[in-house]
Amino acid sequence: MKLKILEGALKEELLTTLRNRETSPKEFRENLERLGTLLISEALKDVKTRTVNLKTPVSEGNFRKISQEVVFIAILRAGLSLIPPAVNLYPKGRIGFIGTYRNERTLEPVNYYVKFPKVEGAKYIILDPMLATGGTAEQSIEILMENGIREENITFVSVVSAPEGIERLRRFKEATLITASVDERLNDYGYIVPGLGDAGDRFCG
Ligand code: PRP
Repeated sequence: MKLKILEGALKEELLTTLRNRETSPKEFRENLERLGTLLISEALKDVKTRTVNLKTPVSEGNFRKISQEVVFIAILRAGLSLIPPAVNLYPKGRIGFIGTYRNERTLEPVNYYVKFPKVEGAKYIILDPMLATGGTAEQSIEILMENGIREENITFVSVVSAPEGIERLRRFKEATLITASVDERLNDYGYIVPGLGDAGDRFCG
């Protein structure tokens, strides 16, 4: 797993607001969307491009355009929060869904829904604000790979990640993880510490 951790003052500002328990659901959604924009911009950096020749108002030259198809996969529920920034940034992107929740006792992922466009050679960007034990992410990557998507074309985007989850994804050598923070640890209930609580609950209300 190639790990990229987002840097910078704006990321810190947005993340701190998300962590604050006093942040209202409205502010939480808005800030999650802004931070999502930064994360998804990073995820789109290595999409393949091609040369096009065109005239600018003053000259003519060769320039670059995106040539690879992009599919955004939201992991329900919290991943839905990252679809608006994704399609705002790249409206040509397609959208798919993986529905998974964690069994609160075993902390293992329970999948109940899978629907996404299968596009040969496309870049798949999985969206989920939280990487805790990594079970949901691992299972989601496996689902894509069972459908013929190559590891190198898979990027997982999370806002906060626990070291335990990152460790669990290490076996996917060619995939990429982009996150805004590697937090300290998981607590006994499988929550990320310090984290930002349950992103799904805070986003959905
Ligand atoms: C949360 C979160 C991730 C998952 C992370 O979903 O949005 O999908 O847990 O945990 P893991 O890394 O340990 O698998 P949740 O189970 O709360 O799903 P829900 O929002 O649909 O209830």
